Parts: sequence; structure tokens; C-alpha cells
Amino acid sequence: MPITRDAIAQWIQAYAAAIAEQKDALTQLDMAIGDGDHGENMHRGFQAVRLKLPAVAEQDIGTLLKTVAMTLISTVGGASGPLYGTLFLQMATRTAGKQELTPSELAEALKAGIDGVISRGKAALGDKTMIDALHPAIEAFQQALGQGAELKDALNKAATAAEQGRQATIPLVARKGRASYLGERSAGHPDPGATSSLLLIQCAARTLG
Ligand SMILES: Nc1ncnc2c1ncn2[C@@H]1O[C@H](COP(=O)(O)OP(=O)(O)OP(=O)(O)O)[C@@H](O)[C@H]1O
Ligand SMILES: [Mg+2]
Repeated sequence: MPITRDAIAQWIQAYAAAIAEQKDALTQLDMAIGDGDHGENMHRGFQAVRLKLPAVAEQDIGTLLKTVAMTLISTVGGASGPLYGTLFLQMATRTAGKQELTPSELAEALKAGIDGVISRGKAALGDKTMIDALHPAIEAFQQALGQGAELKDALNKAATAAEQGRQATIPLVARKGRASYLGERSAGHPDPGATSSLLLIQCAARTLG
């Protein structure tokens, strides 16, 4: 079963709803180790995305994802705006002109997006950032697909890996972003960006599989 344009739109809608629901929780996490704006930042961005989606309802997946990217870049600010913007922009370039994706095309697009975040933010695994949820997720997704898993199964494995990666940020000392200014005091708290990235993968598992 291919992944349709409408399924991708549902993924984005589901993520906007999840961010709205978790806004305060994300802000609490960012209050502990950052400046307390991650929930607000993401919510502002995805509310703006919601308003833009009807205008591209007839367009291909690349155009849809590019609209998400440009909206995030222009409305979110901070570290997470350009980083999530890059994730969606790289995905958009891999899906330009497509009305549907195979599971491996989705994996390639996600991989390009995550690689884009890594090259833009220069964070490595273990730096206590969104990469700690996203990188294990794409690895698990590609591995499961490579072993012949169904899309739903592979996405569930990605979500489990993202959850483990997010949990693993708790004891870490942050090496990127504002949280790194706290040094050792950043340990003992989950990373806000890894938490919002976990939600993105969980929404993919719910809507795309
Ligand atoms: N260089 C980076 N690479 C990847 N992710 C990063 C990087 N810097 C910050 N982040 C992610 O961004 C999240 C914070 O996003 P937020 O919306 O609060 O922006 P911000 O307040 O400008 O960021 P920060 O306080 O980290 O500089 C962090 O929890 C982390 O996951
Ligand atoms: Mg912040």
C-alpha cells in the first residue's frame, strides 16, 4: 500500500494536534534546561501550518512538505524553527512532484531530513538534542523495512526506538543549544526537542501505517 498525499497531510495535522495538546508539557521541559519556549515555539509554528494546509490541498507531497518547512522557518524562530524547517525542507526535495510514496521512499526522505538537521545543527548522537530521538528512529525504520517488515510494523519499531532515544536523553549532559550552558545541571531532565521529535514519529506510526 503506497503512502498517499492525504496520509502525509493527516500526519502533519495529527502532529499539529499533538503539539497543541503537549504545548505546556514541552514548555515545562524547556523551563528545566532551556528558556521555557519550546512548547510555544512549536505550537505557534504548527498552528500557522494548519492554516496554510488548505491552500495546498491539491498539490503534491513535495509542495505540501515545503509549505510546512517555509512556514516553520518564518514563524518558529529559536533553534527549533530552522532545525524542524530543515527536516521538512529536505523531505520536500526528496518528494517533489510525488502524489504517493513507497515505504522506502518515505524512509529515504526522512533520512535526508534527519541528515539535514545533523549538518545544520552539528549535533551528534548523545548531545541531548532532537537527534537522539530522530536518529535511532530512522535506523530502526530502515532496518525493519530491510528485513521485510510491513510499513505499520516498521513505523512502530521507529516509534519505540524514538521513545528509547528520548528516555536516554534524561541522564545526558547537553552539548548543544541553550541547555549546554547549564553543564552538569542539564542532566536528570529529558530534552524538549527529543520529546517533540518523539511525538512526530509517534504521529507517523498512527497515521501512515
Ligand atoms: N544544534 C542543535 N542540533 C539539534 N537540535 C538542537 C540544537 N540546538 C538545540 N536543539 C534542539 O532544540 C531544542 C530547543 O528548542 P527551542 O524551541 O526551545 O529553541 P531555543 O530556545 O532557541 O533553543 P535552545 O534553547 O536549545 O538554543 C532542544 O531541546 C534541542 O533538542
Ligand atoms: Mg527554548
